[in-house]
Order: sequence, then structure tokens, then C-alpha cells
Amino acid sequence: MKQNNILVTGGAGYIGSHVVQQLRDKNRNVVILDNLSTGFQQAAQDAELIIGDTGDKKLVSQLLKEHDIGAVMHFAAHTIVPESVSNPLKYYGNNTCSTRNLLECCAEHGVKHFIFSSTAAVYGIPEAGLANEDSALSPINPYGTSKLMSEWMLRDLSAAGDLNHVVLRYFNVAGCDPEGRIGQSTRKATLLTKVACEAALGIRDHVAIFGTDYATPDGTGVRDYIHVVDLANAHLMALDYLEQGGESNTFNCGYGHGYSVREVLDMVGKVNGEPLNIKELPRRAGDPPQLIADANLIRTTLGWQPSYDNLEQIVTSSLNWERKLKQDDFRDK
Ligand code: UD1
Repeated sequence: MKQNNILVTGGAGYIGSHVVQQLRDKNRNVVILDNLSTGFQQAAQDAELIIGDTGDKKLVSQLLKEHDIGAVMHFAAHTIVPESVSNPLKYYGNNTCSTRNLLECCAEHGVKHFIFSSTAAVYGIPEAGLANEDSALSPINPYGTSKLMSEWMLRDLSAAGDLNHVVLRYFNVAGCDPEGRIGQSTRKATLLTKVACEAALGIRDHVAIFGTDYATPDGTGVRDYIHVVDLANAHLMALDYLEQGGESNTFNCGYGHGYSVREVLDMVGKVNGEPLNIKELPRRAGDPPQLIADANLIRTTLGWQPSYDNLEQIVTSSLNWERKLKQDDFRDK
């Protein structure tokens, strides 16, 4: 079928590679565009990988044309909240300006469907720590703002032409492919689950708790942790929805309940069989106290149902991946 091919930007990264895995399992034709700044060639497995930037107009235009791309899933982005506070222009450059370039190329080439990786960070500090898609959009860090600006470009572009889109606002993504083929491989990771697993395996000396004085039940930050396989599945369902004529839409991706930092660390210790070495530090810049999804809309509109809403399973898959990396670190090859 013409224009049946899918471009996945950032497909060699953590979330993108899990989506590519599921697309390939469904025999969809995938081309990955990734600059490998945080992704890894091995994560692309046997999918076609083009190494380059989403901000490179000539390259993007050429590949949309040559590969006859009908749908784009756009993961390529910087994602670290504290880094966005200290280096905002890096985030506006890659997450906003490069997305604008990608969208311009998509419009010129008549791409029909666009799925955008957005974030719960667009809500800032929602009332009672719970956000639905209509909650106020009020990011408290440049990362959230950089993504929100892209959401707005997408909204306006869809209104002006034929491109339909789905925005997926991720809450806290965690876990890895249960079969251990791919996982979270970021170097110098900042993600709580990854840092905790590294500490559990002695790759780091300790894990820090950033803030113990939040107005939450145990004083530490609360987040809605969603297993990456469930999140990846939401992308496939969003693509089906658009391909079947669904109108542009925005969905939260989370489970609708949260865990505190202490609960996550306790679980990592439990699964690993010994308590972690924990240091209590002051709050980290840009962190909201609590961020939980009202995620009813994606269930009712797309029929999405999670399969891994279980912290122990999330942690077990993360620890298994970390053990694998420790044994045979493909990142050094
Ligand atoms: C993550 C995502 C961000 C997304 C957000 C949605 C990444 C790198 N970050 O950010 O893109 O917008 O979810 O909610 O993908 N913490 C510690 N010690 C640590 C690390 C973290 O106490 O060593 C705490 C944080 O202060 C926070 C919680 O753990 O309360 C989660 O932090 P983290 O895993 O870094 O994710 P977010 O900053 O929430």
C-alpha cells in the first residue's frame, strides 16, 4: 500500500526502540532516524537505521520521499528535567525547533499521521497532583515548555491541513522488554528506576532521594510509573486509530495511581534481595511534588488496557536489563 511506511525518530532510544519492536512484531515497515546522541545502534535491532538529526531539513525531506512515509512517530528529544533548567536553549533547540523542521517536512511531503511523544511535564503542578487532558497547561520547567510548544505547532498544523495527530503525554516511563531484548541503556541516567537499579547492582555507590519534605504521604515525590511495554502499545493503538480515520486527539499515558520515591526504592531493594544504600538530599530543581494521570480518555477512546500495572514487574524487568548490561555492555563496543 502506498505511504504505508512509518518513520520513527529516536527509534534507537529507550521508548522508541520498544515501539519499533512492537511495530516489527506486527510486520509494519519501519525506518528509524536517530542521531545516536542518547540512543544505541543495537537498540534498533534489525530495523533500518538512518543516523541523523530531525533538524536536518535536507535529510528529513529526502527520507520521507524515498521511503514513502505515511506516518511519523516522533520520539527524538532531550528529556532530562534538571538539565532543561540549567540549559534551556538545548531543549528549545532540539525539542521545539527541530520538531518544527520535522513538521514542515511532513507537511511538504503529505504525511498523513503524526504521533508525538509529549509529557506530563506540560501540566506543571496540577491541582491535587492529578491531571486530565483538560487540566491547565502550565509547565514549571523548560522541558515541559519545549514539548508544549511542539504540541501547539502540531495542533495548528493539523487545523490548517490534512495531517492528523495524536499527542501522547507520558507520565513516568519505567521497565523494559520482559524478554530482555531491549531496555533502558542511557549513560549517566537520571531516571529514578534506572539509578536505583544501578545502585542495587553496585554500579553506583548509592541512590539519592531528592526531597523528603514534600506534602505527600511519606514526604517524597510521587509519580505515576507506566511500564514501557504498555506505553509502546498505546502508540500502536494510536496509529491504528489515526489510520482508521480517527480525529486528532491528546491522551495521558499513565495508570492513574502513583508511588513515592521511597516505595520505588523499597521495591528495588525487595526484588534485589537487600536494601539499597540511600542518601537523603534536598529537593531537585523543576520537580513537582506529585504527578498522576487521569488516564480514562485513552481507555475509552482507544480501548487501551495496561498489562503491566505492577511495580514489582516493572522493577524486575529493569533489574534484569541492568544485570544484562553489567554482564555484557554493548555500549562499550
Ligand atoms: C520523568 C521523565 C520526564 C517526564 C516526567 C513525567 C526522563 C529522563 N524524565 O521525569 O521526561 O516529563 O517523568 O512525570 O525520562 N528522584 C530521586 N532520586 C533520583 C532520581 C529521581 O529522588 O536519583 C525522584 C525525583 O525527584 C522525582 C522522582 O524521583 O520525584 C522521579 O524522577 P525521575 O525518574 O528523574 O523522573 P521525572 O523527573 O519525573
